[in-house]
Amino acid sequence: MLNFSLTEEQEAVADMVRQFAEKEVYPTIKEYDRQQEMNPAVMPRMAELGILGINIPVRYGGQGFDYVTLGLVCEELERVDTTLRVVMSVHMGLNSMGVLQWGTEEQKQRFLAPQARGEKYAGFGLTEPGAGSDVAGMRSTAVRDGDDYIINGEKMWISLATKAHHILWFAKTDPDAQPAHKGITAFMVEMDMPGVTSGDIHGKLGVRAGSTGWIHCDNVRVPAANRIGEEGEGFKIAMSCLDNGRYTVAAGATGLIRTSLEASLKYANERETFGKPIAQYQLIQQKIAWMTQWYDNARLLYLRVGWMKNEGIRNTREVSMAKWYATDQSFKAANEAIQIHGAYGFSDEYDVERYLRNSRGAIIYEGTSEIHQLMQAGYAFGWRKDKPLRCELPAYDPDFWTE
Ligand code: CAA
Repeated sequence: MLNFSLTEEQEAVADMVRQFAEKEVYPTIKEYDRQQEMNPAVMPRMAELGILGINIPVRYGGQGFDYVTLGLVCEELERVDTTLRVVMSVHMGLNSMGVLQWGTEEQKQRFLAPQARGEKYAGFGLTEPGAGSDVAGMRSTAVRDGDDYIINGEKMWISLATKAHHILWFAKTDPDAQPAHKGITAFMVEMDMPGVTSGDIHGKLGVRAGSTGWIHCDNVRVPAANRIGEEGEGFKIAMSCLDNGRYTVAAGATGLIRTSLEASLKYANERETFGKPIAQYQLIQQKIAWMTQWYDNARLLYLRVGWMKNEGIRNTREVSMAKWYATDQSFKAANEAIQIHGAYGFSDEYDVERYLRNSRGAIIYEGTSEIHQLMQAGYAFGWRKDKPLRCELPAYDPDFWTE
């Protein structure tokens, strides 16, 4: 049976997040975007409102909502500001859900619970200066030493690099493994461990009010108890985390399409040329129609993934499709919104120029559009097939989640 309706609870959470973003974040976005600084009030407020643990079971410090709710939250956040959704992508999608999937019970209590309560912020250390799409080309190493591992390496383009307390760090425990991806292991690196340093990157095209940076590990001693999964499982853990991160990116980019559409509708009704509102010109209407089509398609694609996650169905193909589609279309929607706004769209007096800049990064991070096209072709030809994992993302079980 197909059911496209949302529950009252899901709508109430989306409404709460919309109010928060509109009232508490929107008024100062331009200021923080210009300063290239993250609004320091944002993450504590997201924690206070329960957003940082929205879909984590209550027993692990979360709010106990389902995966569809997470998507709706991300859509509402990015409708107002991409930097808010990026927080959810790394803290929740790439880290917390990974611990929910792969962590031991002890690790869930030690790492996941404080993250879900918003006492600790979480990040994801996969990308390196010389390894982005080619994950297995990473140089970071972890060498076993008694009950510890000694980690060395450098991560780059890391969201929340200077804000997070816990980083899910990927390193090679077997640099000679063939194929190379089998030599990677995952660790929870705590940012106050001796030898960890980090810094912010400025001068980005978009997400300027967000935190993006680098992290170095210089002989960092990490207890084996912080290893997530088994040695050699790191690549699969990273990819499964990306299945969750990509979901949040897809839902967020859907929100960016929606806000570009909303801004365009408002402006087209107000602005007059040749004696009538530009909304009455068919070439403007065509752009509006495209945006509505992109929004509906993007929303359906991410909601399908949310439903699959709730049911415990593997969704690597579907989430790749949703992320690829929504991010490409969000860039196009923001571009059309600028065209509708004419010269005003070119200035930061209006929001649409920021939407265009903010839409651009998501076409690169969490899998470039080119990587997603390769994946989709692989599935279509039958070369790419998903294998069952040792630990699957748990299906949403309301009793387990809320008790
Ligand atoms: N979940 C679990 N396991 C998976 C998986 C998934 N989604 N996808 C693949 N695997 C497993 C496979 O089953 C396979 O297992 P076996 O060793 O048992 O055979 C293994 O992983 C290797 O898989 P592939 O053969 O598919 O790997 P590949 O070398 O063909 O490459 C790729 C895959 C699609 C290119 C992949 O490397 C990829 O997605 N690259 C993009 C990386 C990316 O998205 N980086 C983003 C960084 S994070 C970020 O941007 C966040 C931020 O802070 C801004």
